[in-house]
Order: sequence, then structure tokens, then C-alpha cells
Amino acid sequence: MKNWKELYDSKKMTSDEAILRFVQSGDKVVFQHDVGEPEELVRALVRNADHFKNVEISHMFSLGPGDYCKEEYKENFHPNMWFVSGQTRKATNYWGDYTSFFFHELPELMRQGRVQVDCLFINVSKPDKLGYVSLGVSGDYTVQAVRSAKKVIAQVNDCVPFSYGDVVFPLMEYADAIVEYDEELPTIPPSKIGPVEEEIGKLCASLIDDGATLQLGIGSIPDAVCAQLKTKKHLGLHSEMLGDGAMNLYYEGIIDNTMKSFDKDVMVANFVMGSKELYEFCDHNHAVKIMPVDYVNDPTIIMNCSKMIAINGALGCDLYGQVASDTLGGDVQFSGVGGQVDFIRGAAMARDGLGKGIIAMPSMAVKKDGTKISKITAHLADKQVVTDSRNDTEFVVTEYGIADLWGKSNADRARALIDIAHPDFRPQLKEEMEEIFHHKYDE
Ligand code: COA
Repeated sequence: MKNWKELYDSKKMTSDEAILRFVQSGDKVVFQHDVGEPEELVRALVRNADHFKNVEISHMFSLGPGDYCKEEYKENFHPNMWFVSGQTRKATNYWGDYTSFFFHELPELMRQGRVQVDCLFINVSKPDKLGYVSLGVSGDYTVQAVRSAKKVIAQVNDCVPFSYGDVVFPLMEYADAIVEYDEELPTIPPSKIGPVEEEIGKLCASLIDDGATLQLGIGSIPDAVCAQLKTKKHLGLHSEMLGDGAMNLYYEGIIDNTMKSFDKDVMVANFVMGSKELYEFCDHNHAVKIMPVDYVNDPTIIMNCSKMIAINGALGCDLYGQVASDTLGGDVQFSGVGGQVDFIRGAAMARDGLGKGIIAMPSMAVKKDGTKISKITAHLADKQVVTDSRNDTEFVVTEYGIADLWGKSNADRARALIDIAHPDFRPQLKEEMEEIFHHKYDE
């Protein structure tokens, strides 16, 4: 656009002005994902809560304070979450709502208007000389939301890296309001890797061959896996998330992306979350491509990655191999489906026959009151929802070993899972297995 600067200046305003001018009661407001959440716009929305009734708010993962989820605002804001975390859990389960889908479907849901975006809040880099900005740390659903939204409010923030990929666009073609406000992006501390995570990391690493393409989820286990990959060669990244573990492997020359079947030489991700150093690493870096989720998480794209390895966490798994990753039972939405099924399926469908979908989790959870719970149970908990069907689950890894379930009968799956359960729970699981499947564990 030739005169983008004039237009840009004419649309500059404070965050309060932007919110009061462009958000209306009853609107559906969507925030850019994850560390891309434009915090100043969110604060302004909450500051002006009295002006609004029933504004629906949707986003996936967030590291922000989530003040719009406080009970005092429940007449003003209606959270309808796409992923739940600590700040949003109570509101989602008691007065808000949750919408479930496979992450790769979200842009299509927006294109079809099934998921409406009345007002989108984005957090973008400073414009380049032609007025193009970058969404920086998250492309996933925001790339499409920018095109689908009726109104777009942009926080222009010098701390947002100018990352490459499909996240670069001419801001003034889409933005209704510009709010210049520089603030650091939220960071997460390095994961705590204890002996359990370390063992799981070693076992997962044993399933990864040189030249593999990796998808790594959130948390201490993916980081523990990265720590065990120091002797591997020519790994690639095609992942929902790019974290510090993958950046470190890139610096060490272990992830070089040279053996990828496409997107050679670059790391591809939907979003970035980690340290300040990671965000700086993404700035004007041609080795990183931040892309929309309907590309990165599309199982038909993932299936074409060479030696695709998908590693994700879970809350529990039953003896059939059904995995629950987003609910704990009791009808409570604990987290979200995210891209777990997209990647588990894509890896299982791998054209080269060398893909592996791995669910990696500690064998046990310890409740706040000290009660120990086996994460491998005969049945899922009461009112717990299945995330990965038994047909999706290939490999389950705990600190006690690897259960390879694909192609196995019910009883053999149960035996393989009991063998990697915590030893304290194995006797009970064996009894339950014999009752459910009418086969002796030892036969
Ligand atoms: N019963 C009761 N409590 C359990 C439990 C179980 N079976 N399993 C875990 N918990 C508790 C833990 O004790 C912990 O409690 P705390 O917060 O009080 O310490 C809490 O639940 C979280 O468990 P943890 O094992 O620390 O979770 P995590 O951070 O490793 O995340 C998932 C695991 C499954 C929640 C997370 O991976 C997820 O949401 N996955 C779905 C989305 C996805 O995989 N997307 C693709 C990757 S980007």
C-alpha cells in the first residue's frame, strides 16, 4: 500500500479508545494465541468492563493473568475457551464454556463462519518500510482470524520479533485501530527435569532415528527428550510449538533440517513459547518459519514428513489404550485437545511407514494431599473424556518402559501397559485386566 503511513497515523489511538470504539456488548472477541496475546489491549478491555455486557472471549493457551475470568466480571465477559489453563479453568467450567475441535480445523471453522470473530486483538511487530508487520510468536489461528475478523485492533509492540513465514502481512489492509505499546512478551522458566522425566526422555530418544522430523509438545517431558538427543544427527522440526529445547538443538547443529522431505533447512512451527532469548532468536531469522495451524497441524501434511516423531503428554490412559489429555474426570475441562490428535494421527499415517506417535507421561501423579494415582488405569475416570481413541494410540512411554500398542489385541495391549505402570499399581491392574478381558496376565 502506497500511503500506508498516513493511514497508520490516522488509526493510531490509545488502548482505551480502541476498546470503547470497536468492541460492543454481545461481540465475540478473539485474542492472538499464547505469548502473542496483546496484554495492553486485554488490560484495557478489563478496565472498561462496565461498558460491556456478555462479550464472549475466546483464545487457546494463555500466559496472561486472565482477569476477564474473575467472577466479578461474569455479566460483562463470557469466556468460551479453546484451551484451558489455571487462570481460565474455574470460569470455563462454572459460568463460561469450552469449544472442542482438532486444532488444525480452527481456521476452516473461521472461514465457514462457524466460529465467528467480531473483534480480533493482535500483537504485532513494528511495520517494515512497506507497512508489513509480523505476528511474531504465533501464526496458528491468528493468520486466518486477521482475514475473518469484522474488526481488528493491533497492539504494535517493539518486543514482538519480526519472524518469517505466513505471519507477515500488510497491517493497514486489515487493522481498524493501531495502539502503539511496547511491552515484553511473557516467558516461561526452564522446566524442572527430575529422574522420572530424565528416564522418559531417554526412552523417547531411543525411538528417534537420525534424520527424524520432530514435533514436541509443552512441558518438562519434551525438554527432557531434547536433553537426550545430543548424539543424534540431522533432525528436523515440524511442530506445533517451538521451545528453548529445539532452539538449543539447532545451535548445537543437531537440528539442521537438512533431511526433511519438505521445508528443508527451516524449522516450522505454529507458535513459540519460552525464554526472551528464544523470541530474539526468531527475529529476522530465515531458519524459522511460523505458519498457520491448518498447514502445520494438517495430518495430511504431517504424514509426508520424513520419519515423523510426535511426542505429547497425557493425564491418563486406560488398558484399552484410550488416552485422556484434556479432562481429569468429573466433567471438568482441565486443558484442551490442542494439536495432540493432529500429530498422533499424522505420524501414524506416515507415508514412509517410519512415523511414530508417542504419548509420554510419568507412571504416577501425586495429588496435593499426597495421594498417589496411577496414570494407567483399568478404565478412564468417571466422566473423563477420551482425547486419543484406542486406534490412535501407538506408543505409550513412562519411566518404566515403552508400550508398543499398534496391531495388538485388547489383552496384549493391557499387558504392555501394565508392564510400564508404576510397580505399586501392577498387582491391582493385573486383577482388573483378567476380569475385563478374561485372559490371564501370564498366559
Ligand atoms: N489424576 C489426577 N491428577 C493428575 C493426573 C491424573 N491421572 N495426571 C496429572 N495430574 C495432575 C498433576 O499431578 C498435576 O497437578 P499439579 O498441577 O497440582 O502439580 C497436573 O495434573 C498437571 O499434570 P502434569 O503431568 O504436570 O501436566 P503437564 O504439564 O505435563 O501437561 C497435559 C500434561 C496432558 C495436561 C498437557 O500435555 C496437555 O494439555 N496436552 C493436551 C494438548 C496437547 O498435547 N497439545 C499438543 C502439544 S503443543
